[in-house]
Amino acid sequence: MKVNGTPYRSLWWDESAGALQIIDQRWLPHDFRTQQLDTIEDYAAAIVEMRVRGAPLIGATAAYGMALAMARDPSDASLERAWDYLHDTRPTAINLRWALDRCRRALASRPEGDRVEAALRLAHEIADEDVEINRAIGTHGLELIREIAAGKPEGEPVRILTHCNAGWLATVDFGTATSPMYQAHDAGIPIHVWVDETRPRNQGALTAWELGSHGIPHTYIVDNAGGHLMQHGMVDLVITGTDRTTRRGDVCNKIGTYLKALAAKDNGVPFYVALPSPTIDWTVDDGVAEIPIEERAAVETTHVQGIGEDGGFATVRVAPEGSAGGNPAFDVTPSRLVTGLITERGICKATPEGMAALFPDMAQAA
Ligand code: MRU
Repeated sequence: MKVNGTPYRSLWWDESAGALQIIDQRWLPHDFRTQQLDTIEDYAAAIVEMRVRGAPLIGATAAYGMALAMARDPSDASLERAWDYLHDTRPTAINLRWALDRCRRALASRPEGDRVEAALRLAHEIADEDVEINRAIGTHGLELIREIAAGKPEGEPVRILTHCNAGWLATVDFGTATSPMYQAHDAGIPIHVWVDETRPRNQGALTAWELGSHGIPHTYIVDNAGGHLMQHGMVDLVITGTDRTTRRGDVCNKIGTYLKALAAKDNGVPFYVALPSPTIDWTVDDGVAEIPIEERAAVETTHVQGIGEDGGFATVRVAPEGSAGGNPAFDVTPSRLVTGLITERGICKATPEGMAALFPDMAQAA
């Protein structure tokens, strides 16, 4: 997508430096900064500190991390070390393990002399595939939006609520939940997006920045406003992303997604999840019982962070001194609350049968 008229992906390979460049998302929407990753420690820190974030982007970044590890030392021991080190960065998004496993499988079977080139080629492949997956999700989601628009008076916008940032910044390009929005807007279908701020990390600000840069009308709302808006008939559709979806269609996504799904169910608002296939964990059935939920630092809830007058990060305490902060970063929405899954192969029901019918190859291989 474009930043001030210049096309960008959220990461890109810099041939002249022989290194990966990322957008350091901690500074957005206030400042657009990029960073070169030169060591495996840089890669791990970029994921842990959420300079890069979003399930597909974490996966693609890790693939380039494996490529760097191979360039430094292509031995079996180095391959295993890099897998472990990168895998330990964040626990919830399955794309991380998916990408690391794919790299390890492909590289372990090659002679050491071939690994450097093969690893980089594979990382490029994973990044490019993500772009195509998201483009296809957009095409299928566009039809959903078009259908809703057809039932409304001419010119009235389709009102979509989204949570967190499942936009191009969270993927390599286009985003998952946002891809249908971009395509609908580009097709001339009027839309308006309610953007949840998504405390404590405020990923909604990234979504608002993305949508604003693309000229899409939107309103930034506090996390607790969604239920109220749905009760008053102000939301036609909810689309969120996912960090891990189980084989029966339970959806793990940013904390607060579950509450949006409950409110949507109570108000008859369709609740869709944009799901790239690498985000499906075919080994898990019951998401509530089985998916590890990342617990982040308490300081993210007890304090708010912005950019200070000196241009650096500034932090202000909002909780009383002495109050402990709790910070589960994700929750699980049971499949019964999910109207449908928008995948690169089409839209399916959030059921084992619905998912297996679209992805018979993957369901059987698991
Ligand atoms: O903690 P984050 O910012 O990495 O969480 C991101 C999300 O929860 C996204 O909704 C999810 O990864 C889907 S991104 C296409």
